[in-house]
Amino acid sequence: MIRDLPFIHHFEPGTGADAPPLVLLHGTGGDEHDLLALGRMVAPHSALLSPRGKVLERGMPRFFRRLAEGVFDEEDVRRRAHELADFITGARERYEIGVPIAFGYSNGANIAAAVLLLRPEQLSGAILMRATLPLSRVPKVELAGKPVLILSGTADPIIAVEGATRLASSLRAAGAAVEHHTLPAGHELSETHVTLARQWLAKREAEAAHEATALRR
Ligand code: MLT
Repeated sequence: MIRDLPFIHHFEPGTGADAPPLVLLHGTGGDEHDLLALGRMVAPHSALLSPRGKVLERGMPRFFRRLAEGVFDEEDVRRRAHELADFITGARERYEIGVPIAFGYSNGANIAAAVLLLRPEQLSGAILMRATLPLSRVPKVELAGKPVLILSGTADPIIAVEGATRLASSLRAAGAAVEHHTLPAGHELSETHVTLARQWLAKREAEAAHEATALRR
């Protein structure tokens, strides 16, 4: 049975057998169209699944509630991370795609980090741009070699580099293969981020193709 999908979303099928699907997670005030162009630049052949955050902050969509800037409603973070993980399960059935890699920006990167920590089986990796550790009590989780790219900015006025560093340490402690780049940048994204994300993803794709060939032998 195909379940109803409880998020407004956009889906674009992929064109490459070894290209991992991406789940695109926008920042505060964005929507399901926000990251499509960037996602396509980073992953030209991947299926793109892009939900719209369901929480409204003064009319702006987000993926979880916050009490103030940088102060998260952690109960809501947990609840929404499970809700998003369930949506990914349903979308995988409906669109017949594999376990996606998260491609998240700001609030979208934070919910992706929460899904990694709470429902790790729903993501095969993550690109987290301007992310912080979204939970003060990190659950016990096994991330065994899951690839994660974190891109933070030294002059980011919203997400401090220390937050991204704490996130990187927590994910590493759980076994993830974390690459963390701190760039001379603010909260906004630039060409450098796209290039780093594209190169990182191309490596993952090459690894997947190599593994698939080895399995066929
Ligand atoms: C968040 O609330 O997740 C972060 O502060 C980033 C933001 O969306 O402004």
